[in-house]
Amino acid sequence: MKILVTGGAGFIGSAFIRNNSTAHILNFDKLTYAGNLENLLPIASNPRYRFLRGDICDAAAVDAAFEDFQPDAVVHFAAESHVDRSIHSPAPVIQTNFNGTFTMLEAARKHKTERFVHVSTDEVYGSIPEPLDADESYPLRTSSPYSASKAGSDLLALSYFTTYKMNISVTRASNNYGPYQFPEKLIPLMIANALENKSLPIYGDGMQIRDWLYVDDHCSAIQSVLEKGQAGEVYNIGGSRALPNIEVVKKILAATGRTEALLSYVTDRPGHDRRYAITTAKLEAATGWKATMDFEQGLTATVDWYKANQPWVDRVRSGEYQDFYQQNYGAR
Ligand code: NAD
Ligand code: DAU
Repeated sequence: MKILVTGGAGFIGSAFIRNNSTAHILNFDKLTYAGNLENLLPIASNPRYRFLRGDICDAAAVDAAFEDFQPDAVVHFAAESHVDRSIHSPAPVIQTNFNGTFTMLEAARKHKTERFVHVSTDEVYGSIPEPLDADESYPLRTSSPYSASKAGSDLLALSYFTTYKMNISVTRASNNYGPYQFPEKLIPLMIANALENKSLPIYGDGMQIRDWLYVDDHCSAIQSVLEKGQAGEVYNIGGSRALPNIEVVKKILAATGRTEALLSYVTDRPGHDRRYAITTAKLEAATGWKATMDFEQGLTATVDWYKANQPWVDRVRSGEYQDFYQQNYGAR
């Protein structure tokens, strides 16, 4: 099988590529601040793998990639993925997440690509009141430019199934964690800061709830959907481990041998969703997939990876990331 992967230099896309041992893969990625080819060093010289730098909003470049590679399937990860960035600067988020998805769908339509998996997020459901777990029919109630752009792109992808009968499935995953995650998201930021004895910024009261999914479990779920998912269907992917942020951060303090003196409660994120919780029953019934990583084990493995890869963190944390860090946290 030939798979065109978009956003394959990012956190989840690179794990998907590293974990795939059979397909021929073209990684189409713009290399924004979040794209890092170091994440792909384990597969860089494999003849099954090719990298092409390009923007999913550039229709001519996308068309040329389809023409040349002739993919059997597209797995579409590329996105501006960080909620805080989408609040500070929504334009690139709307451009890449909505218009970029449109470009990818048009190219797949033109080239009659057999299969398309659109990778989305449980954030499209917005905050879920206790004690509900959202299933795939839950209304879309987005709070941030990021989640709105993802909800829009989900609906666009599904419209290509309804209108053009394309073989498209949409996945909606919960919060991922694991090695190679850019240290702007909660878990890698807290690990990196703790290891450097920097303060750990907790938004608001820290009682917001997220459901944690180990990145390799997310990737195996996407592979299952690619192979066994039905056209026009949406599949939630969750880790079934919902925890308040402050509990997660305290586990990180314990795993890094640091104390609560590093905790710093800061102004809350605007429009902050209080609770994400989803059910993955549909995916499990349709494909047999189940998350396998226990959260405590996954967190230990992740902390160990960041400890062992401090040079990776140092390189990632230089330059543009520093500017963003100052912009987001400087006034808090
Ligand atoms: P990431 O930010 O780590 O990586 C995004 C990748 O997309 C980068 O390599 C970047 O260079 C590339 N990219 C961005 N704009 C592009 C463009 N215009 N053209 C081509 N490439 C571009 O993101 P991630 O955390 O790996 O997330 C991947 C996907 O999974 C996203 O669609 C995201 O919405 C979704 N998702 C993420 C999570 C999570 O917890 N991280 C959870 C659920 C769903
Ligand atoms: O739910 C899936 C989504 O999870 C994905 O679609 C997004 O791409 C991904 O970024 C993530 O979104 P969140 O906003 O939930 O993730 P983030 O890591 O930014 O924040 C997790 C929680 O931690 C959230 O309640 C905000 C809080 N937080 C985050 C940061 C970065 C803090 O308290 N302090 C921080 O410094």
